[in-house]
Amino acid sequence: MINNRSKSEELDWNTDQFVQAIDQTVAHLVQYVDQAATVPVANLRPMEENQLELEAQNLMESGALAESGFSVFLNTYLRYSTQLHHPNYMAHQVASPAIPSALAELIHGSINNPGAIYEMGSTAASLEHVVLNWMLKKLNWKPEPLKATTESHGAGALMNGGSLANLVSLLAARSHIAPEAWEQGNPAGLKVLVPANSHYSVERSLSIMGLGSQSLVPVEVDENERMIPSALHEVIKQTQAAGHRVMAVVANACATGSGLFDPLKEIAQVCQKEQVWLHVDACHGASFLISSKLKHLLEGAEQADSFVWDAHKMMRVSGLCTAVLVKNAAHLQNAFKQQASYLFYGSPSMGKDYLHRTVECTKTALGTKLFLTLAWKGEQAVAQYIENRVAMTSKAYDMIRSRENFICPYVPQSNILCFRYKNDDDLQVEIRESLLKTGVFHLTSTSFNGKRYLRITIMTTATTEQTIESLIKIIEERW
Ligand SMILES: Cc1ncc(COP(=O)(O)O)c(C=O)c1O
Repeated sequence: MINNRSKSEELDWNTDQFVQAIDQTVAHLVQYVDQAATVPVANLRPMEENQLELEAQNLMESGALAESGFSVFLNTYLRYSTQLHHPNYMAHQVASPAIPSALAELIHGSINNPGAIYEMGSTAASLEHVVLNWMLKKLNWKPEPLKATTESHGAGALMNGGSLANLVSLLAARSHIAPEAWEQGNPAGLKVLVPANSHYSVERSLSIMGLGSQSLVPVEVDENERMIPSALHEVIKQTQAAGHRVMAVVANACATGSGLFDPLKEIAQVCQKEQVWLHVDACHGASFLISSKLKHLLEGAEQADSFVWDAHKMMRVSGLCTAVLVKNAAHLQNAFKQQASYLFYGSPSMGKDYLHRTVECTKTALGTKLFLTLAWKGEQAVAQYIENRVAMTSKAYDMIRSRENFICPYVPQSNILCFRYKNDDDLQVEIRESLLKTGVFHLTSTSFNGKRYLRITIMTTATTEQTIESLIKIIEERW
């Protein structure tokens, strides 16, 4: 048959090609997930080798992927990916994705309806509103009604990751204490008080905002690197006595390295007494709010002014999907000011436009991923997953610390656990690097209280006591 299509039409939607490509993709992904335990957990090699085997340059130049070779390409792509479905994957706090989030990514990739302005993605924005209100209610904050009201209530927005969410929360805090800063720049002497182990994105945000990393003031922590509320009180007083103003206190729920929660209730009491903005960085631990067994760890968070929640950590949602939540909607509304005559000219919208509240203009249908995951089997299924992984981590703690030469420095509160084998910093790094290089286990390493530790984050349900036992054995045998 003569092909009359011009080159430019060849990317047009071809249903047959779509179905064929989807069938191939699904077949590969089914095998990928089903056989996860039989392949290396990570298959790392130098970038140029990946590029060569993927035929990246050739394929880009020839444009031949659709005609032939997609299956071969995908096979290579998956073979050298990091296997998050593998039982021995215990590294970064990245969700073990569930089916609904894969579906949401496919749907968005096909219809490309950004949820940032209502007219571009009304169903995406509608679901964003629903999941944000669900999150607000978990904090006992008033959900945001669909219609404008003079009554006070909370608000939120979904965005691309916790780092961005910390920036947005700090912008909200700044607009509260120094509303003139948006036009005039930062006034002198704004300070942000944090425990030393706060996530690096907090310090980055302050530099991005032009406050400088020196606006970060460390607060003394206890032997488990948790903020000491009485020390916080003292630092607030000292900061004020020096003529500075406390823009925000940032508490961890939980800390990235250790997985331990700052004492939020006591911290919130100090912040309330001193009328200081409290931001809770709950990127990892926020999801514990949905578990009746674990939500006590976040007691006091409801007293905060702003709160961030990564659904792409413990909610089985693929990256990225983060919420910034505020108790008082006006605070998020004031975080940004913008003019864009092509978007805003005062005409009424039939729904909510979220881009007033985010750094991004266009963003994907983030709420859809979380919505589908919750609606698929119900909130309780996600809660059980979280409880189950935390319980598994607790078992891992008992198993590891009972062995000679292994030390666990604290009782874990989440699914993150640090441990040390023999008393040598370099050895921890050597163990991690060697296990990763050989594709046997994927762990991380972190420093805690000045010493280097191995660190596991138990994310996938495939990780069992047997997995932990074989990890211990390998370490004992090889080192
Ligand atoms: C406490 C905390 N805050 C912020 C972040 C950054 O989140 P993201 O990776 O979504 O940017 C992390 C990531 O691990 C975290 O643990």
